[in-house]
Amino acid sequence: MIFVSGANGQFSRAVIESILAAGRGNELAVGTRNVDSPFAQELAAQGVSVRHADFLDPDLMQSALEGCAKALFIPTYDTNDVRLQQNLNALEAARAAGVGHVVYPSFINAESPLVEHSRLVHLPTEQAIRDSGLAFTILRHALYADVMVSDLQDTLATGVLHRPGGEARCAYVARADLGISAAQVLMRDEPSGRTYSETMERTYSGSEIADMMSEVFGRPVRYQSIAAVDWPHYVTEHWGVPLEISKSMVGTSLALEAGDFDLVSPDYGEITGHPPRTMRAFLESVRDGGN
Ligand SMILES: NC(=O)c1ccc[n+]([C@@H]2O[C@H](COP(=O)([O-])OP(=O)(O)OC[C@H]3O[C@@H](n4cnc5c(N)ncnc54)[C@H](OP(=O)(O)O)[C@@H]3O)[C@@H](O)[C@H]2O)c1
Repeated sequence: MIFVSGANGQFSRAVIESILAAGRGNELAVGTRNVDSPFAQELAAQGVSVRHADFLDPDLMQSALEGCAKALFIPTYDTNDVRLQQNLNALEAARAAGVGHVVYPSFINAESPLVEHSRLVHLPTEQAIRDSGLAFTILRHALYADVMVSDLQDTLATGVLHRPGGEARCAYVARADLGISAAQVLMRDEPSGRTYSETMERTYSGSEIADMMSEVFGRPVRYQSIAAVDWPHYVTEHWGVPLEISKSMVGTSLALEAGDFDLVSPDYGEITGHPPRTMRAFLESVRDGGN
């Protein structure tokens, strides 16, 4: 069986839908804190094994993982100290339950010292996985392209795309595309020990993305960079993200400005056999009601 954590989450859903689309739902077990959610019930009705799971409860995690050969542990949105402990709990539960192969979504250029969640969560988790003796795959995700359209209605209404980063170029990839590649790694006979960096085939600046939005959505959009130190307040004020979470975005924004995400990797194509969608193709899909 293949285990995927956090079934109600957006990335988890992209992975699950890709496994279902491949006709492998009968090999799928999903973990969730809410087995009664409409999506969890829909999955159960399709024959997916829906299991109560919570990274904060090691015993529950261990029973949720029983009989699973491979497990994808998706980090949560808790504070960084909690997230790291959750990941370590999941890893320990995997070992106790006899899971053979662990898959972990990490972050692009996880060595960038500026990025707090890489320094405090992803790198220590990667290291713990490498030290665990379990077979593993690490998927270093570029920034989700979805982040550029999370406030699309506001962007189109005001004609301004507010983001940090100055004129630096950045690697992106669409979350739905990452669901496809993670599902491939989970479903195939994946060798242990690979660390993939998943990016589109080129990088983009904020201005380029704004120009592309103007063309795709047929409305003028200009890019306005927000200073790294101001970005958490912007996100809290406009998107409702608690300051406790958003304040850790300063480092990520500084890394973006410094060009730490200005890198391209062929790994996505190596996993899936095809390139990920371009930014333009992603925006067109959003315009047409997809993701
Ligand atoms: N590369 C990027 O640009 C980028 C951007 C955003 C996020 N991310 C990463 O992707 C991850 C997932 O993002 P997302 O957009 O899918 O987030 P999301 O939609 O908020 O989903 C997070 C899921 O985590 C699960 N969860 C929460 N607490 C848990 C716990 N104690 N134990 C087990 N599962 C728990 C929940 O699933 P249930 O309710 O089913 O339990 C929740 O639905 C983030 O944490 C972050 O690491 C990367």
